[in-house]
Amino acid sequence: MGQLFNRNVLLGISGGIAAYKSAQLVRDLQELGATVRVIMTAGATEFITPLTLQALSGNPVHQHLLDAEAEAGMGHIELARWADVILIAPATANCMARLASGAADDLLTTVCLANTGPKLLAPAMNQAMWRDPATTANLNLLQERGFQLVGPAEGTQACGDVGPGRMEEPAAIAQRTSALFDSDVLDGISIVITAGPTREAIDPVRYISNHSSGKMGFALARAAADAGARTTLISGPVNLDTPDHVQRTDVVTAQQMHDASLAAVADCDIFIACAAVADYRPAEALGQKLKKSADTLQLEMVRNPDIVSAVANHPERPFTVGFAAETQDVAAYAQGKLEAKKLDLIIANDVSDTAAGFNSENNAVVVIGTDYYQELGLASKQQLGRQLVALIAEQYLATVV
Ligand code: C5P
Repeated sequence: MGQLFNRNVLLGISGGIAAYKSAQLVRDLQELGATVRVIMTAGATEFITPLTLQALSGNPVHQHLLDAEAEAGMGHIELARWADVILIAPATANCMARLASGAADDLLTTVCLANTGPKLLAPAMNQAMWRDPATTANLNLLQERGFQLVGPAEGTQACGDVGPGRMEEPAAIAQRTSALFDSDVLDGISIVITAGPTREAIDPVRYISNHSSGKMGFALARAAADAGARTTLISGPVNLDTPDHVQRTDVVTAQQMHDASLAAVADCDIFIACAAVADYRPAEALGQKLKKSADTLQLEMVRNPDIVSAVANHPERPFTVGFAAETQDVAAYAQGKLEAKKLDLIIANDVSDTAAGFNSENNAVVVIGTDYYQELGLASKQQLGRQLVALIAEQYLATVV
């Protein structure tokens, strides 16, 4: 399996002669397992046809910012959220100048502004343009803002000059892209994550549950495993594939999730409670199917154990992280839960917002610790999973040194 397996690479092509190499780059990225979508600037289409890139990437090529049809499909904000990395190859001097100025006057610059993930530039231009102080200043500014660089290489240029400014070879760009995801920050660390809903039986055919899809917990598990952690997922009933290198324990009820979680505490450095656990269960699960008779029905419910609290209060407590789904005063309620449950961190999201949270592909959160506050803007759950794991790792590692 390639190192870019399951990664979404948004390849931006700007208008330089090196654009002809971008076709090979699509192939090289795919070889490493990436799913590739392509944005072309107007200039790029002078050098290579969108049809070539569409055929190679297997996806429609995105070209225009104000295109009603494209926006109805995958619009510019969706594209920005979809990308795990934006790679611009070739990145011309003009493209870099526009990015540095914060312009949003075409699709590529707009998507870059709307994207919160890693961005990699493969510059390609004439050697004198590369050496020009304006280009240097733009490059420095972009690097300060987190843009990373691959190349340029030195050598003979299409214009006949010799010097720095040639786009790096596609295979090297693809390798550099995949290196962005190499991480061993959690090597040797053991992480346990609860995910999904629980089901509480009323009788043999009925249960009480909720709309949790498990996507956020599974994204966290994938990111934790990618960062080198020994990762265990304790999952309620969900319809999701187990990420690679993740050990999964399936449970149904809150009590089962509690028992599996506490059994895992002994070998756990970081516990992340992402499951939407039913707070109550029917006092008694009937042995036979409940028959309808009276107009109203009363069910007696009893409290389920609070799993994350039990873990956080365990004598061998791991670094413990909870979630708080709130519909109002998100930060204040989350802060209360952080203290009441004795958590190290709490990740709060606003579930009144239908664009995020339960059952959605996207999420936006605030992460709160005793002396810590960090907002993470709307992003895909995969993207957010990686950002959260990086942030949790940083906070956990600060407690162990
Ligand atoms: O109290 P509330 O349910 O809002 O807290 C949410 C956090 O507590 C989540 O991290 C959730 O996984 C966890 N939780 C738990 N056991 C419960 C209820 C919630 O671990 N019974």
